[in-house]
Amino acid sequence: MNDSNFLKENNARSLWHPMSHPADSHANPPTIVTGAQGVRITDVDGHEVVDGVGGLWNVNLGFSCQPIKDAITAQLDQLPYYSIFRGTSNDTVIHLAEELRKFFEPDGLSRAFFTSGGSDSVETALRLSRQYHKIRGDGSRTKFLSLKKGYHGTHFGGASVNGNANFRTAYEPLLAGCHHIPAPYTYRNPFNETDPERLAQLCLSALEDEISFQGAGTIAAFIMEPILGAGGVIPPHESFMPGLREICTRNGILLIADEVITAFGRTGSWTGSRHWGVQPDLMCTAKAITNGYFPFGAVMLSDAFAETFEKDESGKAAVGHGYTYSGHPVGAAAALACLGETQKLNVPLKAAARGAQLHKGLLDLQVKYGVIGDVRGGHGLMCAMELVSDRTAKTPIDKNTINGVQERTYRAGAMVRVSGPNIILSPPLVLTEDDVNVILSALDKGLADT
Ligand SMILES: Cc1ncc(COP(=O)(O)O)c(C=O)c1O
Repeated sequence: MNDSNFLKENNARSLWHPMSHPADSHANPPTIVTGAQGVRITDVDGHEVVDGVGGLWNVNLGFSCQPIKDAITAQLDQLPYYSIFRGTSNDTVIHLAEELRKFFEPDGLSRAFFTSGGSDSVETALRLSRQYHKIRGDGSRTKFLSLKKGYHGTHFGGASVNGNANFRTAYEPLLAGCHHIPAPYTYRNPFNETDPERLAQLCLSALEDEISFQGAGTIAAFIMEPILGAGGVIPPHESFMPGLREICTRNGILLIADEVITAFGRTGSWTGSRHWGVQPDLMCTAKAITNGYFPFGAVMLSDAFAETFEKDESGKAAVGHGYTYSGHPVGAAAALACLGETQKLNVPLKAAARGAQLHKGLLDLQVKYGVIGDVRGGHGLMCAMELVSDRTAKTPIDKNTINGVQERTYRAGAMVRVSGPNIILSPPLVLTEDDVNVILSALDKGLADT
């Protein structure tokens, strides 16, 4: 059953691939990955490459992290599942919550609400934010603000705060009361501003304007990624998130940091919020919390936020939200082992060093290839190249050309991800200097014919 002809013929016959056109999956069959070791993946034809995508921003410690695998196996033997809905708990998740409390102390976050992944974490944060205001007698605060180009998963709440039409239009109407402000994206923005600091101030002014237009008393929360990821890796100026924190605080608006990809070291700091010196009210995590080995997530809550619920006597604080797999013991065991390894390996240091190398290499490629309109990165291991067919006019590259770059890069030794006109790089944080060089030289070959 596992022969390569069977797999290739049946790949998209009985399954639909997420984020793709069903017919396109037939016309352009996806790469079938059948194995992985370290930071390398192997496909059904035995072709091995460095994984420049890191699974999907989640396999931070690579594919061979034995302590996590062992923890999962041991937990399956001990207690493969039990719910933590009202009335029951499990020992492993209690240990994990205590460890997360220590880990997130510098972010001012002390309580965890467990989920099954990133979209669940975003949904949880949005829902609890509305409830927080209701408990405080401020129930007219129901709206959400977010950034254009932001990505917050695909549940209806998350899609409603998403800032990319590709994830919205087909599913509209979305949640009412969600409004977007321009992202601090220097390459393209409505202000025609290329200076990052000035652009940050313009975006913050747009936020102030939107708040006064909507009325601060109608807004529950602002949700943002500290560095925008799926939208094409957009690092804001260092003044942006602190400025946003100040505006939110001044207007009684909760700040939700969506750290589904930035928590646990990717930015070169332990969290994206810490990277910018900001303490959010809620933080969404998932992905690297288990190194991608088990679907799991946690929404971390600040003391003040949590105490509003815990001290409530009005009866409005019962949480009517949760998932069958919230606090799954196997996920909790994976997360506990993963947290230990993440800290032992001090991955932010690695992400910063290898990220600087990768970013510099991409800037060198930009000098060589006119098709690279913009290179973004410089904050850990998340980088992007935006491809254009005309540098002066910034005309986005066509789909066939960028897909060709990806295919040739893959043949030359590295898996990279294409999203619109962007080539996105988010490799495991444990890759070596040589591995980065493999990615760069594969990209060099991939770009050669453009
Ligand atoms: C910032 C952010 N939030 C939420 C999500 C959704 O996570 P999931 O795909 O695990 O539901 C993602 C996924 O990439 C993400 O990058």
